[in-house]
Amino acid sequence: MERVEKFLKEAGIYYLATVDGDQPRVRPFGTAHIFEGKLYIQTGKSKDVSRQIHANPKVELCAFKDGEWLRVAAELVEDDRREARVSMLDAYPSLQAMYSADDGNTEVFYLKNATATFSSFTKAPEVVKF
Ligand SMILES: Cc1cc2nc3c(=O)[nH]c(=O)nc-3n(C[C@H](O)[C@H](O)[C@H](O)COP(=O)(O)O)c2cc1C
Repeated sequence: MERVEKFLKEAGIYYLATVDGDQPRVRPFGTAHIFEGKLYIQTGKSKDVSRQIHANPKVELCAFKDGEWLRVAAELVEDDRREARVSMLDAYPSLQAMYSADDGNTEVFYLKNATATFSSFTKAPEVVKF
């Protein structure tokens, strides 16, 4: 899991896919933060992506860096504890211009049943589950 967090942070941007009925949806995301041994992402309840995750928590994300790409398939679980939101906002001070722990909008999810696959054109894929 630490390797996945490191890759996502170094890539800077990953693309998060959700399911919207029978339509895949994808968008750029940046948040990736380990808190209490789980890997979290952050979004806002006002966004379509949040609505989609609550309707169907199965997601996949993809990032690319230095000739290697990472795909992570997982389920997202909302953690509604204030300390989880605070930890995320502390890790991403730039978010604090838009979000706060008590704004009723900020939400964080951790990845559950995650399968991460590191791939490149030159090496066999490596699979990590967490
Ligand atoms: C580089 C980059 C990183 C982003 N990171 C996040 C993020 O971690 N969480 C988030 O909710 N939105 C993030 N966004 C904004 C979302 O991509 C944007 O709000 C998107 O429209 C949300 O998807 P939706 O329209 O399907 O709800 C980021 C945008 C960019 C360009």
